Amino acid sequence: MKIAVYGASGYQGKLVLAELAHRNIDILLVGRNATRLRGAATTVGIADAGQRVADTDDHGALVAAFRECDAVINCAGPFTSSGHAVVRAAIAAGSHYVDTAGEQLYHKTVFDTFGGDAERAGVTVVPAANDACVPGDLIARLLAERVQPIEEITVSHFIVGGGSSRGSLRSVVETIDVIKAGGLSYDDGDWRTGTPARHASVTLPGASQPTEVMKFPIAEVVTIPRHTQVRHVESLVGAALGARLGTPLTPQIIDSLPEGPTEEDRRTQRFTYLIDAVGRDGRSARGVVHGHDTYGITAVIAVEAARRLVADGAKAGVLAPAQAYDPTSFLNFLATHGVSWTITVSDLPTAQQ
Ligand SMILES: NC(=O)c1ccc[n+]([C@@H]2O[C@H](COP(=O)([O-])OP(=O)(O)OC[C@H]3O[C@@H](n4cnc5c(N)ncnc54)[C@H](OP(=O)(O)O)[C@@H]3O)[C@@H](O)[C@H]2O)c1
Repeated sequence: MKIAVYGASGYQGKLVLAELAHRNIDILLVGRNATRLRGAATTVGIADAGQRVADTDDHGALVAAFRECDAVINCAGPFTSSGHAVVRAAIAAGSHYVDTAGEQLYHKTVFDTFGGDAERAGVTVVPAANDACVPGDLIARLLAERVQPIEEITVSHFIVGGGSSRGSLRSVVETIDVIKAGGLSYDDGDWRTGTPARHASVTLPGASQPTEVMKFPIAEVVTIPRHTQVRHVESLVGAALGARLGTPLTPQIIDSLPEGPTEEDRRTQRFTYLIDAVGRDGRSARGVVHGHDTYGITAVIAVEAARRLVADGAKAGVLAPAQAYDPTSFLNFLATHGVSWTITVSDLPTAQQ
């Protein structure tokens, strides 16, 4: 099996390269700058791995590079401006595609634009193969099997410590208007902007007091309704993040920052993702995902997501994680990488890892 990494020279790209090397998977580094690709290969200790230069405006070069591979992992953000070219080339090359994107409207446009092309090419595309969307989407599917019919699903993200990579901050800047407006909600069969959040606070597991939250564009709002009948889906983050978004970020400020969190930052960072489902009969179910090191876990998830598409196969098309993978099997794989998950239905624990 051979996997191409586009944006291989970036912070996330190098973590993905290291994970592929750890899993003994053949690697092709692809990106727009030969020097930076060589540097990344050397840093990761894979100087002999294949390298191809291909800019996003050179469709032919991208396709030629991806044709050598079974799958593409795209780590080149911001995705809103450059992602579509990479998806289009992967499909043309007949290579499966996953990416690490966290840009909600980008995900929506990948589903809207490429479904038919991917089906005709026999290629599977899974956007948002990252630390949050994969476990959140898979757990939403497991909740739906326990609480039916579902009135609403709320996805809430809480991350403590760690910091952001320069690339993540560039994605924030590129999509700041969408972020400030809260992004999409799903209501009665369609995705809409401008819908106020139903929830102003969320009670974290073990907490006695609720935490204030704000609406935030998260990929799971786009993916969950692909496989689960639900009237309303919204996504939230702790309101403290809102205050931080008020601080102006310029490209110059971002360029002056370190490339990304240090090993120590990654080790001490903690994330909690909550997926709350409420049935129309009033029953409720909660999925909880705990872990640390969002970038390290994103590398593990992106590699496993691509590997499973090649090794196990999935339906052709643009798919949500729960359409491409068996939820319990993938979640149990993540548990072996320090990502714990629980599902509780109406306060009765029914599954635990
Ligand atoms: N949960 C999540 O939402 C989540 C988790 C992890 C990562 N991410 C996303 O992953 C992305 C990557 O982050 P990072 O920290 O690795 O960023 P980074 O260090 O800035 O790296 C970006 C990579 O993309 C390439 N690139 C950027 N713009 C390009 C363009 N127009 N054409 C071709 N290549 C381009 C860069 O190539 P050069 O070296 O040539 O500049 C570099 O290889 C970000 O969008 C981040 O938000 C999201």
